[in-house]
Amino acid sequence: MDLELKDKVAVVTGASKGIGLAVTEALGREGARVVVGSRTESPELTALRERYDIVFVSVDLAEPHGAGRLVQAAADRHGRIDVLVNNLGVTKPRTSFVDIDDAEWQRVFDLTFFSAVRASRAALPHLIADGGGAIVNISSINARLPFPMVVDYSAAKAALSNLTKALSEEFAPRGVRVNAVAPGPVRTPFWTAPGGFADSVAADAGTTAQEALDEIVPQQMGISTGRISEPQEVADLAVFLASGRAGNITGAEFVIDGGQIKTT
Ligand SMILES: NC(=O)c1ccc[n+]([C@@H]2O[C@H](COP(=O)([O-])OP(=O)(O)OC[C@H]3O[C@@H](n4cnc5c(N)ncnc54)[C@H](OP(=O)(O)O)[C@@H]3O)[C@@H](O)[C@H]2O)c1
Repeated sequence: MDLELKDKVAVVTGASKGIGLAVTEALGREGARVVVGSRTESPELTALRERYDIVFVSVDLAEPHGAGRLVQAAADRHGRIDVLVNNLGVTKPRTSFVDIDDAEWQRVFDLTFFSAVRASRAALPHLIADGGGAIVNISSINARLPFPMVVDYSAAKAALSNLTKALSEEFAPRGVRVNAVAPGPVRTPFWTAPGGFADSVAADAGTTAQEALDEIVPQQMGISTGRISEPQEVADLAVFLASGRAGNITGAEFVIDGGQIKTT
């Protein structure tokens, strides 16, 4: 299927690893011109830049002007923007709601929610001026299934899913589609980095991080397929939504969780 993304200009936030990296690769493979932002450039991203039309912008998206700077870099470089993927989102395992102070709430909201607010606000005038386009927000099943272990992140993702709908309503008449992807657990550094969620589950279960991800997490979370998702699977869905083939899909949220959410 031709996704009609050749030569389209796409901006991806938080793209040096994990899902953002996979989205960048999928867009690059489709022939899009991709401008990506994160604080550091990973070896995997450097390798992708050698194969595809990808520009890396070193940016801290916690800073109020970071997202605007990334979007402007794309517009300056290519003279247009067609796609924005708001991928950035962060959290860490929490012991209790009462232990999270204001600064931590603010940090999680800045990175998980306000980075998308700011990037969307900066990109929308370009998307509209260039004949319409698409925003894809990487939300989470935690937007509708809040876990105490990630209470702040769950609230920020709920806000992002809500924003998705509001933006889709306002900007559909001007040719901009806004959708969200809501993954369950995905095998990325979010889980696998030292001190991440796999280590936390492994410590509780008295096992290794690998076994925690392959067996304990799917069991404990009731994932019907028996496995967590791979970054490429999330990227494929996001890139389809970004493409003209999804031309009449807007204001929708697509869950990719192996059947973890049991309600209709
Ligand atoms: N993995 C999961 O199980 C899962 C499930 C549901 C939803 N999601 C969502 O999917 C999205 C991607 O998650 P992931 O698992 O791929 O994340 P990840 O592996 O932790 O990667 C995070 C990315 O964000 C960048 N980043 C972090 N802080 C940044 C900052 N201050 N400024 C700019 N970039 C920053 C990192 O690069 P640098 O460190 O170089 O800056 C990295 O490229 C997030 O929105 C997450 O909430 C993930």
